[in-house]
This record gives sequence, C-alpha cells and structure tokens, in this order.
Amino acid sequence: MKKAIYILFALALSSASAQEATTAAASKYTAVVNFTAEQDHRQMMTQLGIQGLRPGPSGDENAPNHANYNEALANPYPNLPELLTLKNGKKVTTPEGWRKQRRPEIAENFEREVFGRVPKDAPKVTWKTLISEREYVGWIPVNAKKLVGQVDNSSYPLLEVNIAMTVVTPANAKGPVPVLMMFGPSVLPAPAQPPKESLEKINAALKELLVNADPSLKAVFEQYPAYNPVVAPAPNFGPPPAGDPPPTHQLLAAGWGYALIEPGSIQADNGAGLTKGIIGLVNKGQPRKPDDWGALRAWAWGASRGLDYLETDPAVNAKQVGIEGVSRFGKAALVAMAFDERFAVALIGSSGEGGAKLHRRNFGEAVESLTSSGEYHWMAGNFLKYGAAEATFGSKTANDIPVDAHQLIALCAPRPTFISYGIPEQGDAKWLDQQGSYMATVAAGPAFKLLGAKDLGVGNNYKTAKMPAVNISLLDGELAWRQHDGGHTDAPNFKYFIPWADKFIRK
Ligand code: GCU
Repeated sequence: MKKAIYILFALALSSASAQEATTAAASKYTAVVNFTAEQDHRQMMTQLGIQGLRPGPSGDENAPNHANYNEALANPYPNLPELLTLKNGKKVTTPEGWRKQRRPEIAENFEREVFGRVPKDAPKVTWKTLISEREYVGWIPVNAKKLVGQVDNSSYPLLEVNIAMTVVTPANAKGPVPVLMMFGPSVLPAPAQPPKESLEKINAALKELLVNADPSLKAVFEQYPAYNPVVAPAPNFGPPPAGDPPPTHQLLAAGWGYALIEPGSIQADNGAGLTKGIIGLVNKGQPRKPDDWGALRAWAWGASRGLDYLETDPAVNAKQVGIEGVSRFGKAALVAMAFDERFAVALIGSSGEGGAKLHRRNFGEAVESLTSSGEYHWMAGNFLKYGAAEATFGSKTANDIPVDAHQLIALCAPRPTFISYGIPEQGDAKWLDQQGSYMATVAAGPAFKLLGAKDLGVGNNYKTAKMPAVNISLLDGELAWRQHDGGHTDAPNFKYFIPWADKFIRK
C-alpha cells in the first residue's frame, strides 16, 4: 500500500529542499508567535490600556442578557456622524470636495479605528495558473482556471501565503466579460474527466498497484470483476432542478464570468491566526499593533490582488469587475468595495454588524459582540476601545466611533452598491439588524447624489426611514436595497442583481 500511496500523493508532498530552506531560515528569523485567540486578545487589551470589556449581548432570546429586539429601544444614539461635513466644520458641496477632502477623512477614520491599515510594504503577489481547461456548467461551455497567488515571503520565509482563486468565463463570449468576484471556496465548477478508455487504463493500473501492495486484494478483485476503484462522475445534463439556477449559472447565462477567492488562504478566520497569514507575514510572525489590519481588511486586500490578476486576463473586462460576499464575507465585500475603487459594483449579502448595520444601533449584534468575542480578529485592535468598560482612557461606546456604517457605504459611491438581506423566518436572523442596515443605506444617499448617482430614492431621513416590505425592490439607483424572502444567503437576489448591475456597468 505504501508504494501506491506514495505514487498517488507524491505531488502533494513538499520537497526536501523546501524543508531544508525552512530549517535554515528558522535560525535567521524570530519564530512565529503561537498565541491562542484569548492570549492575542489579551495582549491587544494590554497595548490599549483596557482592563475590562463589556460583554456582548447573547444571541439566545431566552438568556437574561439577550440582545435587544425592541425597536423603541434601538436608537440610543440617534445622531449619526455627519456625512458631508469636514472635520473643520465646512460643508462639502462638490464632487471634488468629496474626493479630495471628505472621502480621505472618512477612510482614515475607518482605517485607524475600525478595520485597520493595509501596511505600506504589503508584499507582491505573483499569480500562477495551476489548471486551465474547458468545462461545462450546465450546457454553457466555460474556460475554467484554478490559480494561486504566491505572496512574496522573502522578508520572512517562515510563513507562506498562497491565495487560492478560481476564474470561470463563458467560452463563447464575443469579447471581454464582466466578472463577479465572490468570497468562497476556490473550486472548479465541473473538472473535465478523462474519457472511458483512459479511465479503464487508470483502473487497471491502480488494481495492479493495489495487488502489489497487498496480494490478498487479488481475490477481492476476482470476486468482484466489475468493481473499479475510480468511478466517473455521472454527467450533469439532466433537467434543471426546480427554483432559480445557482448564482454562478445565472451569471454565466447572462454573459458574466465569476471568480471564487478563498478567504482562508489569505487570512485565517480566528484570532490565533493573526500572527500568521498575510497579517502575520507582514508582521514577521509577531502580534498586531492597534491600527494594524484585521481579517476583514486582509480578505479585502486579497480580493484586490485577485483583481490585479483579472486586469491581466484578456477574457475579463477589468473595468466591470464586481465583488460579492455573504455574512462575514458580506462585511469583507463592503470593505473591498469601499477601499478599492477599481471594483465597479458590489452585492453585499446579510452583512450585519461590522458591515452595513449601524454600530450605533442597539438591535441584535452589537459592537461589544465584536470587541469581546471570538470575532475581534475581523477588526483593527483599536476597535476594542469602543467596547471598553474600564481603561486608562475611561470607557467608550459605539457612540464614540468617529464613523458609522452609512459612511462605509458612502465610500462606495457613486459605484453601484446593492445591499441585500433575507428574512428572520427563513434564518436571516434579526441579529443582523436589517432595519439598522436600511437606515445606514438611506443615510449614505447624499454621497451618491453629490457624485451624480441615484440613491434609494426615498429621501435621506434615516431617523424616520422604515425598511420596505419583503420582496419590494429599491433598484432604480446606483444605491440599491432588497430584502428577499429567503434565509442567510443572497442567492434569491441574484436575478435582481444581474440586470440591475448590467444596466449600470454595461450600459
Ligand atoms: C455570526 C456573527 C455575524 C456574522 C455571522 C456569519 O452570526 O455574529 O457578525 O455575520 O456569524 O458570518 O455567518
């Protein structure tokens, strides 16, 4: 058996020379710090002078400290930070004033206090194509590529970061196509299979190898002559299942391509990983400083590197690349859209606290949920201050954050930005605060209008704004809203998103 395993998996094993290099490097570089998430969280509190954090509300409605779901108590800090007023008190009234003055002020606050900064010396990424082949998605022929973005680790060879991305474009396109980049596992849609004759050879060779490794298998194979270790997957040309086709099929059918970029290959989704991944690599394996980037910003950075690749791919119209994500990746998609103005359009699914939801709302998930819990790694260390009960600086609350979610959405203006949610009855929990996200979207409107785009078209009084009924679309402008009747997903909104995006970016 040993021999067979070796032959099957030799390619996956790291080479001896790479191991030698790592050992040599180990002596030259300070070792990677191996903290638990708790230890890392603690060290950040110490750096910030925080002795105690308020606990987050419980998501369990029967717990005594459960999150608030009473709309009458939901707005303890009803006034949002001004969108179009500069720090010096002057109003911004021109697109130029927004671009040159107000936008940078808001972005700086988000970088320093909320999401953290991308380091100036963030390393280069070199993209390599691992697999490139013709596949079929349903009846649509596509070019499918599996890529790796190798991050230059010459400054700290003890850590390796390899960004995984899959790019799929319709094979029969007349020219470069728009592409939606989605956060998710990097997998080929339908890897091409060897023909029957080749599969027969593979099975014959495999059986021989297995019998060599274990002669007793000869009797098994003789007893079951029709058995084959490798079976061809059943072809997928049957009638489509009921309901909407999957989002990827809808995109391809509409002449779009898509890219799947894998967050975990950029940065782990936990606090223990902060000394590793891209954040750890730049910090040479050491813990973060308070304004260093968190996982959301790191994932967004990875998406930008994916976009660098798409800019070199002749099948892609790089001026028409969108970004999409759901839940924590909805937050990451919003951060990517806000900070990288090359992204032309965004679909932000069920993003909640840290995403489209107002921090200042007291409804469902709270700032304290992010500061005190296993989710702090999404944010900059500085964000912990806003959950502090006891610290050298006293205490702070959501109301002390210099910015709020409406300004994050405004950083996307005037590019088309679709805020999507589902309904609690189907699993898109009240925890996400759909209404608070709607208020933020309403309050972001003036930036879109200032830049010559259309907002939701419902006025901008966020204090009185009431979320439209389920399945009612507000899709006339570049700023768009729709709460579908499904769960914690944005899939039911794709059939609205695609024509809406086409209208604005393909004209
Ligand atoms: C938790 C978390 C949310 C997050 C969600 C997810 O519910 O509190 O902020 O969006 O997980 O990513 O699924």
